[in-house]
Amino acid sequence: MTKGDVYKVLKEEHENVKELIKETIETKNTSKYPEIKKQLQAHMTNEENFLYPPMEFVDEETVKKNEYEHDIVWRKLLYLDNASQNDEEWMLNLKELNDLLIKHIEREENKLFPEASDALSEEAEEDILKLMEEEKSNLM
Ligand SMILES: [Fe+2]
Ligand SMILES: [Fe+2]
Repeated sequence: MTKGDVYKVLKEEHENVKELIKETIETKNTSKYPEIKKQLQAHMTNEENFLYPPMEFVDEETVKKNEYEHDIVWRKLLYLDNASQNDEEWMLNLKELNDLLIKHIEREENKLFPEASDALSEEAEEDILKLMEEEKSNLM
């Protein structure tokens, strides 16, 4: 592992989930939704448990904004779980989730991750990545 690997992994996860959502919106085929949900849940849980807490001491305001956006994503997932996928509203909500995620991911990749990269040592990043990989294998 080298410095910065943790952000590379998180960015790959961003790309994967963005691609799955894009495909779902374009094809109007909802069969990938369980995969979208599983990936998002594991990703957000890991950020909330292992990356946001140490960053609260560095940039509390950005962490708070990110946590607030995660809350909206969790609520959207709850809605998508319970609403009928045949309903037009379902796809509209997925599109809202998509718009929110694009903004959220931009803030993470352009602000939080660079700040974390400056603030955290290589050892700290390695520990975070190890914990995230462990948790991911439990969650997925
Ligand atoms: Fe996030
Ligand atoms: Fe993220």
